[in-house]
Amino acid sequence: MLVSAKEMLNKAKAGKYAVGQFNINNLEWTKAILQTAQELNSPVILGVSEGAGKYMCGYTTIVGMVNGMINELGITVPVALHLDHGSYEHAKKCIEAGFSSVMFDGSHYAIEENIEKTKELVAICEEKGLSIEAEVGSIGGEEDGVVGAGEVADPKECKMIADLGVTMLAAGIGNIHGKYPENWAGLSFDTLDAIQQLTGDMPLVLHGGTGIPAEMIKKAISLGVSKINVNTECQLAFAAATRKYVEAGKDLQGKGFDPRKLLADGTQAIKDTVKEKMELFGSVNKA
Ligand code: 13P
Repeated sequence: MLVSAKEMLNKAKAGKYAVGQFNINNLEWTKAILQTAQELNSPVILGVSEGAGKYMCGYTTIVGMVNGMINELGITVPVALHLDHGSYEHAKKCIEAGFSSVMFDGSHYAIEENIEKTKELVAICEEKGLSIEAEVGSIGGEEDGVVGAGEVADPKECKMIADLGVTMLAAGIGNIHGKYPENWAGLSFDTLDAIQQLTGDMPLVLHGGTGIPAEMIKKAISLGVSKINVNTECQLAFAAATRKYVEAGKDLQGKGFDPRKLLADGTQAIKDTVKEKMELFGSVNKA
């Protein structure tokens, strides 16, 4: 059964570790992440961007697939199905479809409008027992057409949004989606510290988990980050392993063209990446 992310994140914040959000793209992705979470006895959040939602034939298809897998694979660790960077309309669609968690990304609105829309969605989620993530200060880079300038959030605005009753708060601290450029200045820990001082127990979310050095991840967790989003790194690992399989000519040997064989190495690479992240984030055996 899908669960809200509230309990797992409050426990993570109190226990000073982070739960990974891994974005899904298809059946193999979802299966790889769920199996790894179960093997490591870790809570997990499956992220779905609006673009990936469309690709996987809509939110109801995804809810059916994930619930089916939880049953068929005997998954007992807490799993939240979460809309990533949702618009107001898509957050409502996901709530309807049976997601257990949504993110409303109002960071591109003026703070007043962000507050207004976040407030409305908080009320709906509260009534249905779902968790909700809000965002202040846009995350840099591009993800599925959502482009952010990489702002550093204003801690006072973070406090205003946190006080609306959201479950978790994403704040821009110099992080970006996708690969980090050579000249990246790193995370702004002063900002993170100031945000945590003002928002107290609120679990903070670090987007753009791909390519952030392990030491920075650990420091971010020590300053209140309890959820870390990873997407591109699984895609890179999947693509590299699949490329290797094809370049070695394995698809031409025997029944190597069978999708169950063709995609097996890539799927294993996703599992390896998820395992590495769960170990780094400290969520192993925290289910
Ligand atoms: P990366 O693709 O950089 O890992 O970012 C993932 C993310 O933040 C999803 O919201």
